[in-house]
Amino acid sequence: MKTMLDVITEKMKQAFLECGYDEGYAKVTLSNRPDLCEYQCNGAMAAAKAYKKKPIEIAQAVVEKLQNDPVFEHADAVMPGFINLKIGAGFLAGYMDQMKAGKKHGMDEVAQPQTVIVDYGGANVAKPLHVGHLRAAVIGEAIKRMGRFVGHTVIGDVHLGDWGLQMGLIIEELKDRQPDLPYFDESFSGEYPKEAPFTISELEEIYPAASAKSKVDEVFKERAQEATFKLQNGYAPYRAIWKHIMNVSLADLKKNYANLNVEFDLWKGESDAQPYIPGMIQKLIDMGLAYESQGALVVDIAEEGDTKELPPCIIRKSDGASLYATSDLATIVEREEDFHPDHYIYVVDKRQDLHFTQVFRVAKKSGIVPPERKMDFVGFGTMNGKDGKPFKTREGGVMRLEDLIAQITDAAYKRIMENRTVSEDEAKDTARLVGIAALKYGDLSNQATKDYVFDIDRFTSFEGNTGPYILYTIARINSILKKYEELSGTKEGGLIQAPETEPEKTLMLALARFSEVMLASFEELAPHKICAYIFELSNALNHFYHETKIISEENKDRQAGYISLVTLTRDVLTTCIDLLGFEAPERM
Ligand code: ARG
Repeated sequence: MKTMLDVITEKMKQAFLECGYDEGYAKVTLSNRPDLCEYQCNGAMAAAKAYKKKPIEIAQAVVEKLQNDPVFEHADAVMPGFINLKIGAGFLAGYMDQMKAGKKHGMDEVAQPQTVIVDYGGANVAKPLHVGHLRAAVIGEAIKRMGRFVGHTVIGDVHLGDWGLQMGLIIEELKDRQPDLPYFDESFSGEYPKEAPFTISELEEIYPAASAKSKVDEVFKERAQEATFKLQNGYAPYRAIWKHIMNVSLADLKKNYANLNVEFDLWKGESDAQPYIPGMIQKLIDMGLAYESQGALVVDIAEEGDTKELPPCIIRKSDGASLYATSDLATIVEREEDFHPDHYIYVVDKRQDLHFTQVFRVAKKSGIVPPERKMDFVGFGTMNGKDGKPFKTREGGVMRLEDLIAQITDAAYKRIMENRTVSEDEAKDTARLVGIAALKYGDLSNQATKDYVFDIDRFTSFEGNTGPYILYTIARINSILKKYEELSGTKEGGLIQAPETEPEKTLMLALARFSEVMLASFEELAPHKICAYIFELSNALNHFYHETKIISEENKDRQAGYISLVTLTRDVLTTCIDLLGFEAPERM
């Protein structure tokens, strides 16, 4: 079905045309004076210049054409030439019924579905998942789901950091601890053990120990670099250790991401791009794009119109090692071969902005991707503590994601117990859902580029612009529906009736914007717009609930209409939170 804005805009275009004006002036927007009207069109102002008339004359002529249209309850021309619109009550109710009957609450999918790769998560294997990876996972997952909902084919890839110095550090630390392992015996020619020489908890201890050692022990650091180099060049014993690290680490990572409702289609990593590196570099050389500078191989990326000077992209270091950019470029080569995507979206810390500018420019310059390929970098800000500095544990260390989730679940549990409407056992299950909602909504409700303060008290509050408030609204609707079913013996509502009160109409107008918001949020890669929308929708629902007697309504048709309206509201809210990556408990 058409979006509400499209319905209104088409009517407006028709009216402009009938009056002899170009339909391009018939642009309609949501009202910025909700006290006066619901939608507005300021086109008469611009048309006045072109047609050399008074704006008010044009506006008056246009609204004349809209007078008997059921879409509008009012279409008024006001000085100096605004067109103020109010939607017809009967039309609006019919629109609600259509939304209720339609798939995806009446949203038409995009006309041209695309293949989209979302590169997010970006965990580094063998290093514990910490809060720095939280935002990548949370925002990326939302964008992936939003893209799918509007009709694209979206592939989520975790793009693991699985090929860096941490591997060499672990190998050398392991060698110091267990020198007798066959991986360190150069004369060993048998098969390497299937069992990993460490558990996940040992691994979690080995890496930080090795990393700390490398900071004070130069020799150890060089050994680790050497081991990394050997691994990257295919040295079999180290490849075997690497496989163990991957297996042990991946199982743990998968568990952690699953706890966050984050799912990837591809579990690829930097290591998968390695085979594409030599060919890619050769191509850059053959094209004359890559040249030697102080022993390194670089590609210039500066373009006319840059506001600051952008350094060249380093493709290969003087010692022959490849870099972060090399592996990202090779990954694009791989993705072009495998998926031929129309659109790339990278959800990574905004401090990596320059890196992605370099990578995108080299990819386009070299024809690794064609010039029209859409490449977006969604750079996110930092999650800070209340002191305004990057979020830390009480001791000042890096907070592990698991601990953070445990903290917020615990806080949610306390809140639920304060309300005391459910048993302790149920509260425990509910707390997990509420905790994740608090965490994700607290993050997603901010524009991604902005830093935000992780405020556990605010995030877990049942009031205000929070995840739990949205869940609470859903639970409230469920409880109305349950009462209605107990009284009437059916869950089914009836036709939605024309709104009679202001809160009822406000709720319907909010619902009517659903598809516009979904399409625009993905277009702008802006999950915060969905948060703002469901906050507004929840407020509208709660206002309606306070002003309306639903369960004691005597007019049965009206009551059945209310039931359909609140059911639609619940379903829209549920769809939206699913896109944001969390779920609601049946009650709270
Ligand atoms: N592993 C990287 C990090 O922790 C993030 C990877 C982001 N994705 C990418 N294609 N570079 O910083």
